[in-house]
Amino acid sequence: MDEELKELADRFSQMADHYDEKHDSEEKWMYNACASLVIEHADPRPNDVVLDLGTGTGLIALALAEDASHVVGRDISEGMIEKAQAKAADRGMKNVEIGYGEFRDPQYDSKVDIVVSNFALHHLPDEEKREAIETIADLDPRRFVLGDAMFFGAPNPEEPLFGHGVDGATVGMLVDELTDAGFVMTAVERVHDQVGVLAAERDE
Ligand SMILES: C[S@@+](CC[C@H](N)C(=O)[O-])C[C@H]1O[C@@H](n2cnc3c(N)ncnc32)[C@H](O)[C@@H]1O
Repeated sequence: MDEELKELADRFSQMADHYDEKHDSEEKWMYNACASLVIEHADPRPNDVVLDLGTGTGLIALALAEDASHVVGRDISEGMIEKAQAKAADRGMKNVEIGYGEFRDPQYDSKVDIVVSNFALHHLPDEEKREAIETIADLDPRRFVLGDAMFFGAPNPEEPLFGHGVDGATVGMLVDELTDAGFVMTAVERVHDQVGVLAAERDE
C-alpha cells in the first residue's frame, strides 16, 4: 500500500469503533438517504454475488447479504475490516466475506453479479476514479451502483460539503466514465446538490 493510502486507511481505522453510531444517526441524513438508495438499486436476486468496494464497517454489505447468495466486502482499513467481520459473525451471517482490497485491485477474481460502493470512491483523485470504474467493468458485473459525493451543478468552492480532500467529480464526468466502460445508465438519483446515487447495467 502506498503512503497516502496507508494514511487514509489508518484514519479510518481510528474511527472504526464509532463509525456506525455517527453514520446511523439523524445527523447524517444525507448518508442514510444515499445508503438506502444504493441498497434499493442493488436489489440482488437470491443467486447473486455482490461485491462492495470501500465496504467500511459493512453497513451496505450486511444489508445486501439478507437477499444475495454471497457478499464480498473489500476495504483498505484494517480497523473497518475487523469491525465489519465482527458484525457479520455476531449476526451469524455465513454468506459474507470481508477482507483487504483496493479499488484498483479488489483482490477478487471470481464471478460477480453486482458491484456496489457507497461514499468511498470520492477518496480517489479523478484519474484514479476512471481506473477504478474500468477495473469494476473488467469484473463484468450485471449492475454497478455508486452512492457518493458528486456535483450535480458547478462545484462551489465557497460551499464545500466534504472538507476532507474530496475530489469533486461531477455527475457528468462519472456518467461519461461509466458509459465509456460499457455501462448503460439506469438511474441518476439526486440526494443533494453534492450527493447522489448512480445505477448502471450491462447486457447479461
Ligand atoms: C466513508 S467510508 C464508507 C464505508 C461504507 N461504504 C459505508 O457506506 O458506510 C469510506 C471507506 O472507503 C475506504 N477506502 C478509501 N479508499 C479506498 C480504496 N482506495 N480502496 C478501498 N477502500 C477504500 C475507507 O477505508 C473507508 O472504510
